[in-house]
Amino acid sequence: MDVMVVYHSKTGHSRKLATHVAGALGTRAVDIRDWPGASQQTLVFLVSGVYGGKTVPEVLAFARGLQGSPIKVALMTSSASGREEQKGLREALRAAGIRLAEERFTCPGGFLLFRLGRPNQADCEAAAAFATRLSLGQST
Ligand SMILES: Cc1cc2nc3c(=O)[nH]c(=O)nc-3n(C[C@H](O)[C@H](O)[C@H](O)COP(=O)(O)O)c2cc1C
Repeated sequence: MDVMVVYHSKTGHSRKLATHVAGALGTRAVDIRDWPGASQQTLVFLVSGVYGGKTVPEVLAFARGLQGSPIKVALMTSSASGREEQKGLREALRAAGIRLAEERFTCPGGFLLFRLGRPNQADCEAAAAFATRLSLGQST
C-alpha cells in the first residue's frame, strides 16, 4: 500500500510533525490545500491540531471532499491538552466512506504558556515510529 502524509497547520506544529513523518516514510509532507488526490489504495497520515476543542473547518471540509476515495486515513494530532478531540473529524471521514485506522497518534502541541516547545524532537520521533509501524502493518 502506498503512503502519503498530509497536514493542516496554523502555527507550524502539524507541519513539523508531518515533515518528520514523511522523511521517515521516504515521502514528502503535503498541505491539504495541495492534496493531489489518490486513485488507488493509499494509507494517508492526516496531521492536524485542535482549536477551540475541535477540528478546524478546513480539515473537516478536506475530509468531506474525500468522498469516494479508496484511501485509508490514520489520524495524527497535536493539542495543548494532549488529547485528540477530533470526534467531528472521525465522523466526517466515516460519513465520506473513508476507512479509518483504529490506532491514532496524539502528542502535546504548545499554545500560549501550555506545553511550550512541544512537539519536540522526541514527539517527532514517536510520530515517525507510529507511522512506520502502521505503514509496515498494511498490506492492502
Ligand atoms: C487559537 C488556538 C486555539 C487552540 N485551542 C485548543 C483547544 O481548544 N484545545 C487544545 O488542546 N489545544 C488548543 N490549541 C493548541 C493547538 O491544538 C496546538 O498548538 C497544535 O499543536 C497546533 O497545531 P498547528 O500548529 O499545526 O496548527 C489551540 C491553539 C490555538 C492557536
